[in-house]
Formats: sequence, structure tokens, C-alpha cells
Amino acid sequence: MNPELICINTSCRARYGITDVLYNCPKCDGLLEAEFVPPAATPAELKKLWRERRMSNRPVDQSGVWRYREMLPFDDAGLAIVTLREGDTPLLPAPRAAQYAGLDAITFKHQGFNPTGSFKDNGMTCGATQAMRLGMTRVACVSTGNTSASMAAYAAAAGLHPLIFIPNGNISYGKLAQALEYGARTFQVEANFDQILALVRVLAERLGIYLLNSINPFRIEGQKTIMIEMLDQRDWVVPDWVVLPGGNLGNVSAFGKGLRELLAAGFIDRLPRLAVVQAEGAAPFYEFMHRGGTFHAVHHPETLATAIKIGDPVSWPKAQHEIQTTKGVVEYATEQEIADAKAVIGQCGIGCEPASAATLAGLRKLRAAGVVAKDADVVAVLTGNVLKDPDYIYRYHTGALDAPDGHRLQSTFGNAPIVVPNDADEIARLCDKL
Ligand code: F0G
Repeated sequence: MNPELICINTSCRARYGITDVLYNCPKCDGLLEAEFVPPAATPAELKKLWRERRMSNRPVDQSGVWRYREMLPFDDAGLAIVTLREGDTPLLPAPRAAQYAGLDAITFKHQGFNPTGSFKDNGMTCGATQAMRLGMTRVACVSTGNTSASMAAYAAAAGLHPLIFIPNGNISYGKLAQALEYGARTFQVEANFDQILALVRVLAERLGIYLLNSINPFRIEGQKTIMIEMLDQRDWVVPDWVVLPGGNLGNVSAFGKGLRELLAAGFIDRLPRLAVVQAEGAAPFYEFMHRGGTFHAVHHPETLATAIKIGDPVSWPKAQHEIQTTKGVVEYATEQEIADAKAVIGQCGIGCEPASAATLAGLRKLRAAGVVAKDADVVAVLTGNVLKDPDYIYRYHTGALDAPDGHRLQSTFGNAPIVVPNDADEIARLCDKL
């Protein structure tokens, strides 16, 4: 039996076929999610099977997403899976980052180790596979950069035609370069992310193109395996906190769904608390969760962490549910806090892109406020690779990084390159001073 798509609105809960091309409920416009059908095998059997698959050379077993396929809404025999061996990302202890945040320990789950350098690959392998299952030929997304890079790669691998829509001048060159290299038809639109999402939804409907933004429930399914893999890597020991950056809020929705399903199926006996961190200039979810009332979009979101420069996140109702269910929290971080936290993550030999560093910046604040205990068991998810935005790094370390409002950020942990003459004595003298 195939699972179905279900409207998340408790007053609606309409059900649709798993191969219906839908992103929102046609009855009430609510968000849709894939139904979870608990696997037939016991948790103990599956934990053993998933471990054994790590020794296999089959592409579906090597993928850190499809290895956990019993938890995914794809049970068609002979399904053509589109995989670039995503997932399998490491858990990295980071004592220097822990010290900076005032914690005994922090472990980073680094999604930047994915094939295109971000967590989007976990979702895109499922999104692209669903596009193939539906017989689609064209796929589209609006993106702040990582979704487009990922979609371009998976579409290319699957022989699908990718159409990418990005806010003109507002994504890093590393990400734009990836989309071009993977052969995506790329449109730079004179509008912000939220405006372009509305545009792309109209175009997708009109032209019969499959939409692969995180509103697509199959993207969420793939991203939930980040939590499954994390727990598998920790021998199923549940951390106290899982911290992640928030933009369009697909990832927190995916994490919460995955964790709830693991609890319901008996893989774990409690939920970690989810902590979402937004950038100060693009923090509508923070405002909403702290002030209550109705959800208000930020009309002109601003942050140098362009990946999370989103003012009207579509998945906020799902995210709200997951934060409430896990007794989670939402925090924000300033441009300076993100920049300094990012440099500290670099000093750990780990590195990440700006949006990812919101995790450490937020954790530092949550620790200072006493929300996170000093000895808490914390996993922070780094969402993108350090090389995604080298321009930001160079500016920070050379004292040339300006916030969106024009004020110059401090290079608290700056490390500018030194220009030297071609002279061994002079260089030796400089080295002695280090
Ligand atoms: N971190 C990075 C590096 C991202 O690229 C994104 C989102 C997020 C965090 C936030 O995740 O949207 O699920 O809350 N990037 C999207 C994109 C929007 O188009 O690449 P979210």
C-alpha cells in the first residue's frame, strides 16, 4: 500500500494520492505532508539492517537518505532512484566552538559534506525521484542559492530539465556558479525570494513544471533522514538539543516530522528540543513565536547570510507545530554575531557558510540566557559548505565586511593575508613574531 498526501490542517485533513501533483491542499490551501506508514520490521531489526547497509556497495544503500528507505513514502519496486550518494555527513566535535558558546561540548552535523555542499541534497534526491515517478520532464525552483545548486545537479543526473529562478544579485557566486555548471537554465529575477516563489508557483501550474521548493512534501521526506542518520551515528542516543538555522522553515519541519515518526515507531523514547535561529533582519518566525498573534511577513528581509534572507517562509505552520511538539525555541542572531561565530567554526578546522553559523551564534545567546544548560548534549546542524561564499570570508578577514545597513562589521577574529617581499630573512623575521 502506498501512503497518501495529507493536509496538515487539523480541521481539514483531506487526503490525496501520493502521485497527485499537489503542493497545497486544493480544499483549504493548507500545507501537505506525506503520510507516515510505520515499517513492518521492528526498530531493532531496522537499526541492524541500516548498519549492515553501510557495508554495501549498492547506490541505494550507500546513500545516507535511501539507506533509511523504510521511513520514506516510496515503496514502488523498481523505482528509478536519483542519487548522488547524498547524506553520510559527519558528526564533528568542536571544543573551540563549545568554549565560545559557554558549553562543555558541541557536535556539528555537517551537511556541507553533501555532493553539492548543502543539506538540500538530502531532500533533492527524493524530490527528483518523485519527479521521475510522475513522468515530469521539467523541474523548477526559486532559491537563495543552495536549492538551485542541488536541483540543477540532481536534474542533470536524472536527465530532467532544470529551471532556476533567483533574486538578482542576492546569491553567492559559488552557488550561482554551481547552477550554471550543472547546466540549469537560470533566470535572475528583479524581485526578492518571496515574490519569486509566488511567480514560480504560477509558472509551474501554467507550464506543467514540477516545483522542487521545500513546499514539495517529498523534499521534506528526504531532509528528515538527516535526523535519522544523526541518531544512527549516535547509536540512538537522543541529544538534548538540535540547533539549526531557519529561512523558509522547510528543514525544521523535516527534522520535527522525522523525530516524531521515530518516536511513534519506537526507535527513540524521547524527542530532542529543536532550536531554530534566524538572522535578525529576516526573522519573522522569531517575532511570531515570541509575540504571538498572527504571522507577519518581513517585507524587506536583509542579511548577509543570503541563504536565509527570506521574509515570508511558507512552511511556518509546520515549523510552529514542530517547535511546540519538541518544546523548542526560536532565537535570532545579529550580523556581527553570525560573522564572529562563523570565524570560530572556521578556527575549529570545520568551516561553514554564513547561514550555518547562525547556529553557534544562537547557541551562545541561548546559553547566556540560561535556556541551554552548560552541560547540555547539543547537536548543531551546519547546513552549507565553507566554500559556498568565499567573498564573505575574504571581506570578514580583511576588515571589509559591511552589514546590509552599511555599517562595517568588526573583524573580531580577522586573519588577513600578509603581503611580503621575496626575501627569506624578512619572512623568517615575520614568522618569528607569530
Ligand atoms: N542554511 C542554508 C545554507 C540554506 O541554504 C537554507 C535555505 C537554510 C539554512 C534554511 O533552511 O529554508 O529549510 O529553513 N536555503 C533555501 C535555498 C531557501 O533556496 O537554498 P530552510
